[in-house]
Amino acid sequence: MKENYVVGSVDPALADGGEPRRSPTNRPDFQTVAAARYARRDVLRGGLALAVASLFAPAALRSAVAGAPSTAAGGRLGFEPVPVSSADTLVVPEGYRTQVILPWGEPITGSHPEFALENSGAEQAMQMGMHHDGMHFFPIEGEHPGHGSSDDGLLVVNHEYMEPRLLHAAAQGMPLQAFDVPLKEDGSRDPDQVLKEINAHGVSVVHIRRGDDGDWSAIRCRRNRRLTPETPVTIGGPLAGDPRLRTPFSPDGTRARGTLNNCSHGVTPWNTYLACEENWWLYFNREGDDAPASIARYNVGRFNIWRWHLAAANAEQDADRYLRFDATPRGEDAGADYRNEPHTFGYAVEFDLFDPDSVPVKRTHLGRFSHEGVVFAPAREGRPVVLYSGDDSPFEYIYKFVSRRPYAAATADGSLLDEGTLYAARFDADGTGTWLALVPGENGLAPENGFATVADVLLNSRGAADIAGATPMDRPEWGAVDPDTGAVYFTLTNNKRRSAEQVDGPNPRPNNHFGQIVRWYEAADDHAATRFTWELFVLAGDEDDSRNLAGEPLTADNRFAMPDGLYFDPDRRLWIQTDIADADQNSGSYAPMGNNAMLCADPDTGEIRRFLTGPMGQEITGCVSTPDRTTLFINVQHPGSTTSAEDFAAGRSSSRWPDYGAGPPRSATVAITRIDGGKVGS
Ligand code: FEO
Ligand code: CA
Ligand code: CA
Repeated sequence: MKENYVVGSVDPALADGGEPRRSPTNRPDFQTVAAARYARRDVLRGGLALAVASLFAPAALRSAVAGAPSTAAGGRLGFEPVPVSSADTLVVPEGYRTQVILPWGEPITGSHPEFALENSGAEQAMQMGMHHDGMHFFPIEGEHPGHGSSDDGLLVVNHEYMEPRLLHAAAQGMPLQAFDVPLKEDGSRDPDQVLKEINAHGVSVVHIRRGDDGDWSAIRCRRNRRLTPETPVTIGGPLAGDPRLRTPFSPDGTRARGTLNNCSHGVTPWNTYLACEENWWLYFNREGDDAPASIARYNVGRFNIWRWHLAAANAEQDADRYLRFDATPRGEDAGADYRNEPHTFGYAVEFDLFDPDSVPVKRTHLGRFSHEGVVFAPAREGRPVVLYSGDDSPFEYIYKFVSRRPYAAATADGSLLDEGTLYAARFDADGTGTWLALVPGENGLAPENGFATVADVLLNSRGAADIAGATPMDRPEWGAVDPDTGAVYFTLTNNKRRSAEQVDGPNPRPNNHFGQIVRWYEAADDHAATRFTWELFVLAGDEDDSRNLAGEPLTADNRFAMPDGLYFDPDRRLWIQTDIADADQNSGSYAPMGNNAMLCADPDTGEIRRFLTGPMGQEITGCVSTPDRTTLFINVQHPGSTTSAEDFAAGRSSSRWPDYGAGPPRSATVAITRIDGGKVGS
């Protein structure tokens, strides 16, 4: 007998693209700072240019203001920009071709079950997960990132989240929105549906190879692997063994299960992968108002969108795999319930993708927050390892980690990430900035305010950065480091909640719809420095509300909104990917932007051109080139997510990408190449 399900709707505040509110720290009124930043460059471009620049401006800025040509002959961007699009297709410049690979559901490991709507939860764990995000291409014999074969390698792909309505046969015909779940009539959840949702998350490792015809294909390989939210992991760094990480699964607090909501990623100088945990806090039930700061400051329990814990009552076995998502204290202590489970998420999770048996490690010294991703500064022999990370929520911070021990290529490994100093960034109005050490005894952190130990700081990194006085940002997303100048770029995607009184240096617009990209230069070209100088690289927006590096408005060739993904290819092309929220796409102030897109910028001149437009409802994310730059991989995430509940019930979808049949739209990877075999973007 067919079972009946009812619609489990998401909280309207979340469906509206909203996120929990909090009151940001009151900041001085820096209303004029952005103008001042541009004015400074205008000064530099005038008669005083070189004299002033030589005192203050880093090399790249000097070359830009002096009008020096970019290094690539004829300019760094060698393609004609594509127009905005609201068509359900992927568009690239003339002379390019695209190939879709590894869509959600593609079998990659185990018994390789073929993709079908009826796939079970266990089968999903042998297939590509859903909603591809950050990724990296590791040449098969490579020993260092970006070196080795351009035809043969392991592609590692994060799966950020999923849409239950696309996953379940029982959901077809129901009036479900993207974030709704099918509930049983008693309000509980079906265990295998939940298991399938769990296993649609995590990370995929797939061996891919380019054939003589130029096409990429996945091959069956013992290294192919799925990490899921159930994969056993260990805790690394100062929080390993902390009582606050004790759970019934790990009574000594040294182990945990899996990784969740993996948005962007990082690649270590020793060629391992870090999957970052972004909106993990959405996955837990937590009742009561007595939560510690390490729960409450992260909004755990405010929204529990998937309600996975509600499958426990229906589970004939393994109820624990669902119960772990109920973080409400119900037992006598942390050994009797999962009150501490949320303390096992919010990290960057390292694993050796070349060893299919390697156990991932949560590197707790990199901080706990909504980790969008991490980006490493180029490693220098004998110097500390340095990486940067954004906390993607409105009014959250940008962080940096500096290792205690120096980097040595011959011996470097993940243990370098377990000792060091975590900093948060303060951007000052004069164009300088300071890295604030989040260390007990410094910057106001003390036992009296809850920060007696490094572990206290790491478990509540946000609270520590609040006290230290870091600058609340407009949702820090991806970072990228210029391989030549060392400049660090970060996307700040938007912040509609910033008021006129809250604007400050790198966040210069109230009610910020469009977002911006900031860049900074560490003092003395030393990534371990505690001082830096910053400027805005671009204020995104339409022709009436935007500025490029030259201080001019964007145009039809490059207007964009909500920058998210960011990637420097080895030739210093800066790739910018957009993620306009589902509810905003092709409407209101976002209408001129069309579908989400990818642009390419020249970091020296600030020139930007639109390179690609995606199908309906999706975001473009994930970006990595082969070492020879002839293939650029990107991900198309959540095509069709804008489909209304009514349309879904009627079998309609705003997108049928990439199959264009009767089946569901599917997130997938796209390999972009030039027909003449040249370097992408050049
Ligand atoms: Fe998962 Fe901040 O995007
Ligand atoms: Ca993102
Ligand atoms: Ca996103």
